[in-house]
Amino acid sequence: MNHRPALTLNYVSKVYPNGTVALQDLNLAIPEAQFVSIVGPSGCGKSTVLRLIAGLERVSSGSIDWGLTPQARKLAFVFQEAALMPWANVTENIRLPLKLAKIPQKDAHSLVEKTLALVGLEKFERSYPRELSGGMKMRVSIARALVTQPNILLMDEPFGALDEITRSKLNSDLLDLWHQQRWTVVFVTHNIYEAVYLSNRVLVMGINPGRIVADIEIDAPYPRSESFRTSSVYSEYCREVSQSLAIAMNHPQTTGF
Ligand SMILES: Nc1ncnc2c1ncn2[C@@H]1O[C@H](COP(=O)(O)OP(=O)(O)O)[C@@H](O)[C@H]1O
Ligand SMILES: [Mg+2]
Repeated sequence: MNHRPALTLNYVSKVYPNGTVALQDLNLAIPEAQFVSIVGPSGCGKSTVLRLIAGLERVSSGSIDWGLTPQARKLAFVFQEAALMPWANVTENIRLPLKLAKIPQKDAHSLVEKTLALVGLEKFERSYPRELSGGMKMRVSIARALVTQPNILLMDEPFGALDEITRSKLNSDLLDLWHQQRWTVVFVTHNIYEAVYLSNRVLVMGINPGRIVADIEIDAPYPRSESFRTSSVYSEYCREVSQSLAIAMNHPQTTGF
């Protein structure tokens, strides 16, 4: 794996106009092709981190430095809500970002075909969102992100609304894709088991103010399969993340000292 940071957050703070200190002095270097998960209590600033990286919000102080040239920096965002266009079929939904980017029809067609195959949606290209299960809608949403051929994938609780079995299937498929494509992934979840299963590294955030309280390397080889999920190494990592999370929730940093 290449360990050059794709991006670095240096003393990043974010204060919203209403005075909420969402993040304080966040320092974080994310190497290229790393799969990083962020877990933490609701409101600790996980989504804010993703939005700052995506450039959808500006830092209040500190900086985000890129190790990639602007041309090599292709970001895609996947949200918990699939947010598909209900009147358009799967192919049309996936083609949307290419249409917005004015990619010629012929190139767009082959990119969409390739992406449909990548996420296992070939048989559903003419289906409408209402005809799809939650898991399939999420596949379409992921495909719509991947069709732009990103190298940085920002995912904000993408599988949070799915049942356990669908989630675990999508986890395995996402990991297979990452193994082939090697995007840099920043994945927000409140599910510790999912974070450990997927990631090279799990960041645990605390609240008030939002900050990183633990940075845990998941030192287990890929590809990871069911045997990893049932291993003692896996449960040990889950316990470690869970303990850090419990500390983060029970000991909000008190001010005034
Ligand atoms: N646009 C906004 N304006 C004001 N406060 C916000 C805004 N977005 C988020 N916040 C606040 O910032 C904090 C962090 O929010 P968020 O990043 O959404 O946390 P998380 O994703 O971990 O739940 C919360 O207190 C939230 O209420
Ligand atoms: Mg959030």
